[in-house]
Amino acid sequence: MRTAKIVPLVTSLRSRLSQLPVWTARAYSTKYPQEIQLDGQSYKTDEWTNVPPYILELTKRQLHQNPNHPIGILRDLIQSNFKDLGYTFYNNFKPAVTTVENFDILGFPQDHPGRSKSDTYYLNKTHLLRTHTSAHEHECFLDCKTPGYFITADVYRRDEIDRTHYPAFHQMEGARIWSKDTPNFEEQLVKDIESIPKTNIIVEDPVRDAPTHPGNPKQDYMTEKQAQLISIHLKKTIEFLVHNVFETARESAKLAGSTEPYLNEPLKVRWVEAYFPWTSPSFEIEVWWKGEWLECCGSGIVNQQVLLNAGLTDDKLGWAFGIGLDRIAMLLFGIPDIRLFWSLDERFSLQFQQGKIATFVPYSKYPGIDRDISFWLPGDSVLHENDVMEYVRSHAGDLAESVVLIDEFVHPKTGKKSQCYRINYQSMDRSLTRDEINVIHSKVENDLVDNFDVSIR
Ligand code: PHE
Repeated sequence: MRTAKIVPLVTSLRSRLSQLPVWTARAYSTKYPQEIQLDGQSYKTDEWTNVPPYILELTKRQLHQNPNHPIGILRDLIQSNFKDLGYTFYNNFKPAVTTVENFDILGFPQDHPGRSKSDTYYLNKTHLLRTHTSAHEHECFLDCKTPGYFITADVYRRDEIDRTHYPAFHQMEGARIWSKDTPNFEEQLVKDIESIPKTNIIVEDPVRDAPTHPGNPKQDYMTEKQAQLISIHLKKTIEFLVHNVFETARESAKLAGSTEPYLNEPLKVRWVEAYFPWTSPSFEIEVWWKGEWLECCGSGIVNQQVLLNAGLTDDKLGWAFGIGLDRIAMLLFGIPDIRLFWSLDERFSLQFQQGKIATFVPYSKYPGIDRDISFWLPGDSVLHENDVMEYVRSHAGDLAESVVLIDEFVHPKTGKKSQCYRINYQSMDRSLTRDEINVIHSKVENDLVDNFDVSIR
């Protein structure tokens, strides 16, 4: 275990290196207070704790609740499209959840990568920042008095750094339940499908008529026909959602004066099969937008065990989906970098107003500064790419525009691995000086040396 020591902020790396003890284990716990306070609760930290203070700060922002923020405007837009269709809207869930809610109840296997400390922010061994809105499915199934519900919330994942990834983002979960005991149940399902507003979207779906097979099976407690009808209801609901959002994106781009050819093409989506621990069969929708397929939303028929875990009776069945809001809001509002959502600069925030899809007008593009960092990893290193991302973010905050692993090789004689990351530092709001970047960059280097046994090359 690493001992705490006080080091001046900027020391020469060489002198630091010579003083360092050799260790290979990660030593997170030394950096965290004994208790973390969040939303009125206190969490005792332990060897699982890995949520840095700047991430805890983000939990206070609640961008989806701000009616004048692009994320809040998008949430409103989707809610307004579904307002009379039998859904309850939940927007107030706090971000700390248990591992039971986020994983166990949903049937995540023990070795699922989502559970690892390199992917997820843990408050401690039992509590984490939710990695998806599905963590609240169970309480909503129990609480909800309408056939369906939507949950919108901020979610957190340790992730790479680039213009479309940020450790905090937003998801909207949708779900819908029926009872098999409904008189003429299958006819009712057909009626419910017919009541979903029609769209003129072009749909590619190779498995619409036969959505289940051994690789993506039907659950035993429903018939083939029921699985097919529920899948169609799910897919048409998502197609309606996607249609509304992307048609709005198209209109706003045209209003902003864009004449790009994609704006006149009909909207095209395709369904691909997917796998989630708590749905079967499972699907994903991709939207053809600006010449590429955009992954949009995972979904499926909810496993009966999840419904039973939530306290529902065994006649219940239904679907769920989860859609990421940030990438879509970037398209809708023409926002080039996901960090802008978190900007407190009025030149950003004053551009958006409740109910309006305005195209973002960049106030300036400040130049970035590239810095490389190359090091040898010790033989038994547990350094994960996301750890490097985390150290960069901890010191650079939103000045980290991107971090890319640009080179990696293994020395033929020593067997040691070398990695080189390129960090682009860039501010959305101002010009950066070389001096301030040097200070930040050496903190990142020092931290990597301190916490992992790397030797800077
Ligand atoms: N929670 C999943 C995700 O984050 C999406 C999902 C929601 C999939 C509901 C199936 C059902 O990717």
